[in-house]
Amino acid sequence: MDKFIIEGGTPLKGTIAISGSKNAALPIIAAGLLGNSETTIHNIPRLQDIYTFNNVLRVVGAKVDFIENENTVKIDPTGVSHLEAPYDLVRKMRASFYMLGALVGKHGYAKVSLPGGCAWGPRPVDLHLKGMEAMGIKISLDKGYVIAEAGDTLKGGSFTLEPSSVGATVNLLLASVLKAEKFVIKNAAKEPDVVLLCNTLVKMGANIEGIGTDKLTIRKVEELNGVEINNDPDRIELGTYMIAGAMHPENELTLTGCNADHLGGFPDLLRKTGTKVDIDGSVIKIKAPKVLKAVSAKTDIYPGFPTDLQAQWATMLTQAEGKSKVTDTVYFDRFSYVPELVRLGAEMHNEKNTVHIEGKTPLTGASVMSTDLRASVSLVLAAMVAENTTEVLRIYHLDRGYESLENKLGPVGAKITRVEDQ
Ligand code: UD1
Repeated sequence: MDKFIIEGGTPLKGTIAISGSKNAALPIIAAGLLGNSETTIHNIPRLQDIYTFNNVLRVVGAKVDFIENENTVKIDPTGVSHLEAPYDLVRKMRASFYMLGALVGKHGYAKVSLPGGCAWGPRPVDLHLKGMEAMGIKISLDKGYVIAEAGDTLKGGSFTLEPSSVGATVNLLLASVLKAEKFVIKNAAKEPDVVLLCNTLVKMGANIEGIGTDKLTIRKVEELNGVEINNDPDRIELGTYMIAGAMHPENELTLTGCNADHLGGFPDLLRKTGTKVDIDGSVIKIKAPKVLKAVSAKTDIYPGFPTDLQAQWATMLTQAEGKSKVTDTVYFDRFSYVPELVRLGAEMHNEKNTVHIEGKTPLTGASVMSTDLRASVSLVLAAMVAENTTEVLRIYHLDRGYESLENKLGPVGAKITRVEDQ
């Protein structure tokens, strides 16, 4: 298990290229299973979650070729015959559950293990299953596996997601585009990841109305063809590096390959801290203020403040002058980073789904342990401004979602070394 040794206190100056989005890649890779021919996707990040998902596709019989030096993945779905995604793989990553929609949506049958993934709070899949039932799919549970069965055609119907869910919207789209006479998803997720999936499916031949709105109407088509498409840039990686750019008074970062349209109100929120944020097409420049102002935040569904930036924002606020709070309304239990930051010297505590922060506190290096993907990157952010040396243990979480983190931050001034922890 690898760990990072980070010597803090060095300013960040220079350019970082933003990678393709992990969360956008997974649904479009799954969509590749619905085609009658090969799908090629560019700008796929080299991340553990992508390797895992590719393996899930291979297990069911798809040919997946990941041309890593080009960040391109090719999916040939014509050999799919084993309609089962096993626990061994699905437990590693929650999004493997997209196999349920993709397999039943194309082949009329799927047996998929209930998912694992990041360990924060309860993360149910009830909406995925109830939505499929509303479409006419027969769902049963057998020893930790979900079995989904559909005939050639489903009547469809409508289903309201309460709360709005990215994963359920993705699964219901995958399940319905080739099967449902007419299916309406109400309160659908509007995240860019869902929009990219819809546009990909339409390019493959699907009939979807309302793309980008919270009401998606799907009417089945006879077949879908393989396509060649580009994945979106990673808005969470981008947001993380924007936050990194604000955390030390001498920081100045240029971030390239960005899509600022996917950030919602985030740039304006960051500007309120005194940070300079200049957006010029796909390039975003960040200049930290001399004194960072404390700005509270509350997560919400897109285009609101993303829960996937909650931990990083709260970490930044430990370096801001004054009291602030960060509330997570999407996941109530995503604060495992708080006690770790307290060990570094942060003054913060959480009550229910809100973390209260008092800054600015000097942070001092210690050994800390990451417990999920976004928590672990937050510890790296903290370590980069802490005095002395910090060890961030169990960075396999981080490798699931941040492509070449130390190779991106090293050249701009961070002192991060990866070592194998015995
Ligand atoms: C996706 C992202 C994750 C992000 C989250 C919210 C991927 C691979 N992961 O996760 O990084 O943090 O969106 O932006 O894209 N819910 C239910 N029942 C369900 C499904 C969800 O109650 O069946 C609830 C969840 O508990 C949560 C809310 O819906 O409170 C939103 O979750 P959802 O959008 O589904 O998150 P994921 O798709 O799992």
